[in-house]
Amino acid sequence: MKFFLDTANLEEIKRIVKLGLVDGVTTNPSIIAKEGADFKTRIQEICSIVSGPVSAEVIGLTAEEMIQEGREIASWAENIVVKIPMTEAGLEATYQLTQENIKTNVTLIFTEAQGLMAAKAGATYISPFIGRLDDIGADGISLVKNLKGVLQAYGFETEIIAASIRNLDHLVQSSLAGAHIATIPGSILPSLWNHPLTTSGIETFMKDWGKLQGTVS
Ligand code: G3P
Repeated sequence: MKFFLDTANLEEIKRIVKLGLVDGVTTNPSIIAKEGADFKTRIQEICSIVSGPVSAEVIGLTAEEMIQEGREIASWAENIVVKIPMTEAGLEATYQLTQENIKTNVTLIFTEAQGLMAAKAGATYISPFIGRLDDIGADGISLVKNLKGVLQAYGFETEIIAASIRNLDHLVQSSLAGAHIATIPGSILPSLWNHPLTTSGIETFMKDWGKLQGTVS
């Protein structure tokens, strides 16, 4: 399973790159706004740190606007993926940009039908939003599982990015459901490697080591 970081925070990205965990980065307008940075500058900064795919989202709502923006965004760096919302206009833009060999990530996927349409339009990636489905009492993990089944059954090359991940269980269940990629927010990073028994185990080892130092000359 590949790990993307769902952030535009440079310090966070640099810190996790050092751990060898970053296969790519995803952003959206909310994530960029949170950083208060210039969109193009920040995306180019991220692309200089991460060699894997970096998703940057269009703002336009018509197909023409999305296609123009998508071409512009794709010219910013080699590893850009143009993120496009799942609408009729988004499907048209996805289809057109795919013809131009521009990679796309169709986002805000909440149903199997939406995922299948995006894959048919040629999306490189589709992003089902697990957390937001759970928020309304639906089952985001089942969506990932079903999408994987559909993509496999018909031989699509489109990859599933499990998005809107809010906790460790979402991540683990997404991997079991067959998501190709999970995009992870900074807020859950510590839970990926911390465990209370690891912490107490280290404390015990250190205490016992200290005792040994007192008895051996
Ligand atoms: O990857 C999509 C993500 O940024 C949305 O997450 O927590 O706002 O639903 P959330």
